[in-house]
Amino acid sequence: MLFLCLTVLVILWAIARLTLGITRSPTCLVGKTALVTGANSGLGYQTVLNLASRGCTVIMADVADMEESKKQIIKATNNPNIITKKIDLTSFKSVRNFATEILNSVDKLDILFNNAGIGVSPSDKTGDGYNPVMQINYFGHFLLTHLLIDLLKRSAPSRIVSTSSLLAYTNNLSVKKLYETKSPDSTVPRTCLYGNSKLCLIIMTDILAEKLKNTGVTANSVHPGLVTTPIFTNTYTVIKNNFLSFLSQTIHAFFAKDPWEGSQTMIHVGVDKNLENVTGKFFSDCKPFVKPRCAYDKEWCRKIWEETEKIVDLAPSEKI
Ligand SMILES: NC(=O)c1ccc[n+]([C@@H]2O[C@H](COP(=O)([O-])OP(=O)(O)OC[C@H]3O[C@@H](n4cnc5c(N)ncnc54)[C@H](OP(=O)(O)O)[C@@H]3O)[C@@H](O)[C@H]2O)c1
Ligand SMILES: *[C@@H]1O[C@H](CO)[C@@H](O)[C@H](O)[C@H]1NC(C)=O
Ligand SMILES: *[C@@H]1O[C@H](CO)[C@@H](O)[C@H](O)[C@H]1NC(C)=O
Repeated sequence: MLFLCLTVLVILWAIARLTLGITRSPTCLVGKTALVTGANSGLGYQTVLNLASRGCTVIMADVADMEESKKQIIKATNNPNIITKKIDLTSFKSVRNFATEILNSVDKLDILFNNAGIGVSPSDKTGDGYNPVMQINYFGHFLLTHLLIDLLKRSAPSRIVSTSSLLAYTNNLSVKKLYETKSPDSTVPRTCLYGNSKLCLIIMTDILAEKLKNTGVTANSVHPGLVTTPIFTNTYTVIKNNFLSFLSQTIHAFFAKDPWEGSQTMIHVGVDKNLENVTGKFFSDCKPFVKPRCAYDKEWCRKIWEETEKIVDLAPSEKI
């Protein structure tokens, strides 16, 4: 029995290692500008580091103080063109102020990484009255993308890369669920809430891709893999379940990617030359991957999009 378990573990481990997607793209990004949300930690930080090493000007956006990270990145890459700007995705006002500052300070944006995200939130509601997981992971990025879309169009060819997750498969999304505020108490519905936010990013990406056809702006979403980052420690600080925390750590010890490995697919989709015309895809391990079934129901997805336009309170002229 033990032998069988070990064999299964070794096989699963081997599959995880053998399917690891690493970008081979040598693209130089001198003269390009990228913006990364959630840039201070985990996948966002690794993405900034990689872009900076390619000569890109990078705008780091995060709610955290980024000065230490910025110093480390400049030191590691010798690229001084790293800009930090605070954004709090739990607030539509903060997103709007942030976008205004960006529009006033840069004249081009080649790659937008909608990456910041949380697993669970200690609070049930943001100041705007929505669930924080939904607002940080999805609504905030939906608004940010709209506010920056003209800049992206002017900079075409340009790309939008959104960090979704395979957990989008564990959704129970409906138009009504967009408004669900209180985080469910048990772990499974909580996973559904996170899954809903990540499915929404896939839907947003697909509709963007369709609306932006022939503009030179592409939109793709990414599953980075199971990656050991602070998102898990943060999550278990909130849900305080020692058993699950232990289980998660054990699974991580065997199967998880490190943040460098986890950032590879995002970077690949953001920079690889062969993908310059690829849009509306969901990538995992640097390859297109099948999306949750409901993401193919265009009529239903359109309803989610239109309801989100109301939630983030877009002016008619801001609609894409
Ligand atoms: N790690 C995985 O296995 C995995 C798998 C699938 C998808 N993802 C997705 O990958 C993305 C990056 O996550 P990660 O694993 O790198 O986690 P992470 O290390 O916790 O990074 C998330 C970043 O987002 C920032 N953030 C949190 N709330 C914010 C807010 N209100 N406004 C602006 N920024 C905020 C965090 O800042 P603070 O540090 O100050 O909180 C942090 O810097 C997330 O969207 C996550 O859902 C991760
Ligand atoms: C879907 O969400 C509701 C909360 O609105 C939750 O109670 C329910 O258990 C969830 N469904 C599944 C399959 O988890
Ligand atoms: C992308 O499309 C443009 C314009 O149609 C074309 O010139 C270019 O070769 C295409 N790139 C790739 C990698 O297919």
